[in-house]
Order: sequence, then C-alpha cells, then structure tokens
Amino acid sequence: MTRYKRHLITAALPYANGPVHIGHLAGVYIPADIYSRYLRLKREDIIYVCGSDEHGVPITIKARQEGITPQQVVDQYHEMNKESFDTFGITFDIYHRTSHPTHHKTASEFFKTLYDRGEFTEKESEQYYDPEAKAFLADRYITGTCPKCSFDKAYGDQCEQCGSSLAATDLINPKSTISGSKPELKKTKHWYLPLDKYEPFLKQWILEDNKHWKANVYGQCKSWLDGGLEARAVTRDLDWGIPVPIEGVEGKVLYVWFDAPIGYISATKDLTDNWEDYWKKDDTRMIHFIGKDNIVFHCIIFPAMLKAEGSYILPENVPANEFLNLEGDKISTSRNWAVWLHEYLEEFPEKQDVLRYVLCANAPEAKDNDFTWKDFQSRNNNELVAILGNFVNRTIVLTHKFFEGRVPYPVSPDTYDTEVLNNIAAFRGKVEENLDHFRFREALKEAMNLARLGNKHLADSEPWKLIKTDPDRVKSILYTSLQITASLVALIEPFLPFTSKKLAGFLNIDGVAWEDIGKTDLLAVGHEIARAELLFEKLEDKVIQIQLDKLENSKKMNEAREAGLPPVKDEITYEDFSKMDLRIAKILTAERVPKTDKLVKLELDTGIDKRTVVSGIAQHFKTEELPGKQVTILANLAPRKLRGIESHGMVLLAEDSSGKLIFVTPDEDTSEGSVVL
Ligand code: 2FM
Ligand code: ZN
Repeated sequence: MTRYKRHLITAALPYANGPVHIGHLAGVYIPADIYSRYLRLKREDIIYVCGSDEHGVPITIKARQEGITPQQVVDQYHEMNKESFDTFGITFDIYHRTSHPTHHKTASEFFKTLYDRGEFTEKESEQYYDPEAKAFLADRYITGTCPKCSFDKAYGDQCEQCGSSLAATDLINPKSTISGSKPELKKTKHWYLPLDKYEPFLKQWILEDNKHWKANVYGQCKSWLDGGLEARAVTRDLDWGIPVPIEGVEGKVLYVWFDAPIGYISATKDLTDNWEDYWKKDDTRMIHFIGKDNIVFHCIIFPAMLKAEGSYILPENVPANEFLNLEGDKISTSRNWAVWLHEYLEEFPEKQDVLRYVLCANAPEAKDNDFTWKDFQSRNNNELVAILGNFVNRTIVLTHKFFEGRVPYPVSPDTYDTEVLNNIAAFRGKVEENLDHFRFREALKEAMNLARLGNKHLADSEPWKLIKTDPDRVKSILYTSLQITASLVALIEPFLPFTSKKLAGFLNIDGVAWEDIGKTDLLAVGHEIARAELLFEKLEDKVIQIQLDKLENSKKMNEAREAGLPPVKDEITYEDFSKMDLRIAKILTAERVPKTDKLVKLELDTGIDKRTVVSGIAQHFKTEELPGKQVTILANLAPRKLRGIESHGMVLLAEDSSGKLIFVTPDEDTSEGSVVL
C-alpha cells in the first residue's frame, strides 16, 4: 500500500431500468462504502465514484413495455436510485450518468483513439434480424433455448440459468422479444476488440501479478483465460446508446459494456479537474467493487481496453462478491422477488444502519448467501439491541445516575478495568487487518467485539451493585466503559454511520479520529455527556410478518402468472371504484346476433328499467338456458353500438386461465336492482 498516494474506488454502475435492491447493496455498494469511509477516516486521498448505466437493451425493452422513451426510463430511475443511495448513507463523491454529454464525449474519444490506431478488427457477419420490427436483435432482444443447459428462456448474450456467455446464433429456436417472431439472419458489419491479442498480457497480469485477488475472482478469471479468449464485438445495431463515432456509420452504437466502465472515467472528470491523477498516475490505487456477473468485464475486457488505449492505470484489485439470495430463492426483478431499497427506506425510516449491518454481517463474500427476514430480526434484536445498544445505554444511564453525567476520575482501577482499557487499541488493528483484505464480515464482527467486551465488563463488574460498597471502583469501571464508547464512535463509523453520529451526540463530542481509537483518555475526566435515547429498537414479530406477507404475495402473483392469469392492473383509488354502478339484473330473453360468432343480444330486467345488452358469450352458453338467470351488470357504462344494436351496460363474467367464461351471479336469489358494493 505504501507506494500509493491516492485511491480511486469505483462501484458498478447500476442499470437505470429499475430500483436498487438488497442484492446490489450487499454485493457492491455497502462494501464499497465501508471501504471508502474507512480510507477517509484514515485521511487517505480517496474518491468514490458511481452513476447510472443508462444504455443497453434492457432499458429499451423497458421503454417499449411502458410506452415511453428510453430517456424517460433512465431519467426516472436515475433520480430514484440517486436519492435512495443518498438516504441510505452511501457516500459517493459523484453519482454520474452515462447519458451525460461528458460521458458521450469520453466514450466516443476512447473508441476513436482505438479505432484510429487500428486496434479493432472489422467483420461482416450474419446476425439475427426481426423483419416485423425492422431491427437487428442484439443481446436481450432475442431469447431461445440454451445449447448448454436447455433452459428455454436464455438470452442472446447469456443464459441466466447456467451462467454461460452466449452468442445469439448459439440459441436453439430463437425468438424476437420485440415481436415474438422467428428472426432471420442478415449481414451486418461490426468492430471487434481482439481479446486474443491481449491474452499473454492478461495471463501475466492476472495469473502471475495478481495472485492476491480474492479466490472467487481469480478462479473465474483463470477459467476464462484457460478457455482461450476470442475477439468481442464492441458495437451493436441499435438506436439507443452512444453512436459509433466513425464517419458514414449510422444506426450503430457502442456496446453497453464498452461504454459503461468508461463511465468511471467520465464521472471522475466531472468530479475533479485533477481527474488524470486518479487515472493516469501509477501511484493511484484503483479498486473496482462489483458483483460476480461483472467479473469478466472488469478483469478482462476493460483492462484490455485500458491497455490498448495505453495511458490509463489498471485496477489494483477487484473484490467482487458472489450473489445474495432472498428467503432461499434467487433475487429477481421480473418476479418481484426482492427487497427494494426505496421501499425499505419508506417502511423502516431511520433504520438504515440495521440493513447496513445485516447485509454486511451476511455479505456473500466467498459464496452465495441468503437474506431472511427472521435473520434480520434476530440480528437486530440479539446483536444491535442486546450488545451495542445495551452497552451504550447502560454506560450513559449509569454515568448520569452516579456521576451527574460527567466522566469520573478512575480512582481505583481493578486489574480487570485496566486490562479492558488497554485492550481497546487492539480492535483497531483487527478491524484494519480485515478491511485491508476486503473481509468486511470479519471486520464488522471485530468492531462489535469491542462492544461485546464492554458489555461483558459491565455485566461481570456489576457497578449498579458495587455503588453501595465500593463507589471508587465504580468510577474506574465507568471510566473504562466511557472510553470504549468513545472509541466505538470511530470504529463503527464505516459500517454504521448513522449510529456513530448518534453516539457522538450522546457523548457530546464532534467525532473521534481513526488514529485515536484505543486512546485511554479520549473523554477527559469531568467532560459532561448528553442524555441518551435508545440506539436501536427491538423488532416485533408483526413487523417482520408484514414483510413475509409481501413476499408471499409476490409468490402468489408469480404462480398466477405461470398459470396463465393476467397480472393485477394498476392501482385505482376508491373514488375510481365508486364511479362504477354495479347491480344485479335478470336475463329475460337471449338470442344470437345473426352473422356473428360470439354475440348474444340479452334483454335484462335491472330493477330500474328494462334494457338491451350485447355480450360476447355465444360460444360459452346455450341461449335457451339463459332466461331467468340473475347476473351482475355494470349499469352506468356509456351505451355503444354493436352490429347496429345499442348495448346499454355490460354483463360481468369470470374467465379462468383456459379462457372458460362463467357469469358472476349472487349466491342466492335477490331482487333485481340490488346494488353490488
Ligand atoms: O451489471 C450491471 O448492473 C451493469 N450495469 C454494471 C456496469 S459496471 C460498469 F462497468 F459500468
Ligand atoms: Zn444455460
């Protein structure tokens, strides 16, 4: 570390096509934030950059689905995610975006430099084309069966079931996701980065020089390199993205994975005029925080791009995490199987640190891990409340009770008190050792161990009893507890920043410097502390049950969708609902509408009037069986003409997933005109 003068911390740019969830937080943003806060506390020169990844096919698909423009999609989610991160205490120095002009310019210039230098190979190839949509089908615009594991919803760039990286032409039974039609092969020209050329360099740099990388990262890189690298297309036939900056080329953009990592450079440019110090001086230590699905892009492709460009540094480390599951199942946006950050912040206001704590304590550092709401509850109740909260509360309450809120002079320390007091400094070393090696779970455990030690010291010494027999000893005990509490202000700050701030407030201090952790006189004798509130609250079962019920609902919705039932429509207000006049009516007569397959003309007695309603039910009922039936109708639907007959209202029907229709009838006879509430 000593040769480094400054640090550049990057956190993967999340796609701006949806909100951030706990998987993103545990995998990337919490460890990156802990690390950045830690470096700042150590007064290192550090910048921490991130932003929205606003290009790529998923964004255009989302825009199509919602009938809005891609720009509207990214504007919406960029703002939302930026605000959520901020409220959650993620301290990016800049949250940039790849639709920003600085980024378009930076990425175009990067491409142009490589192009002018002849670093790309040009190739015409046959690619899938949707004749209906008149568009080439890149990446996620095409699905089909994975040739490796037979999963039938694999994408044109990747199979999410087995993780294989695919080419669209590898898919069996390919289908366009735009129109559903079978695509055709059509010729198109693209530019490729010849990764094979960089193989010797990458082998040396990763496999020999970067043996210190995490085993999961090193292992994945090794298997890519052992498999042999091939040229990768860095352009796409799309109309959303950064236009390929070559004269005469139209309708083509840079591949999103070419432009996105350059987003780190663009963000740094807009953050500081000294951006080149962070990117071009080899006494800068660059660290990429990412999830495991991003390893190949950050360890192989981006470094090859940087190497080809020639003036940039390479990352010193890429501490990628594995995946976090939720209640035993893979987190999924499309199945709404996630805990969304913006929802958590609304439902658990002021509890940012609880989630930060649980996600760090449970981080998928070496293998995939599971988040459960029960574990969330028990870590809150048994660790944050029972250890940290309890220790701090007892220390502060007893100081007020026995010493009028002033730090007592340690008149007669017992060897136990002295030992504990002298032991505090060791925790700083243990936390540092772990953080320096990206072992965040272990680092957090060590920080909590200091609170554990303080708690045990209090519980063993029982100052509340000793006060009657040995008040001088109590002074030493609480002196020790107060010094521990002060050290905790700094020691927990990277992990629990909101709690650290509160704690400093309780102690009536501005903060504690990292290098002062362990000092045995952080709080001077006679210093007056403030009153404390509870640091953490116990979480009751009913609060957790609400979250479990939400997930149960998602599960039911998914099952319904898989069973062919349509999704629930957008929410309406009670006012919207109350505009509908629903009533019971009786069918008087029913006759087929001539020259139609489906229509039946019904005469109804609504209790208020007799009226005609035309209904598309001919294939489901025999007309002669209908008279006399009571049905539910929407009575105030505006009249409309069907085949020349004025239909006045609508008969309500229930349709199951096979398309079978039945009437919605009262479960016993009632009078016509009865109102349905
Ligand atoms: O996987 C993702 O969510 C990507 N949007 C990450 C991009 S990281 C960087 F390269 F921009
Ligand atoms: Zn597969």
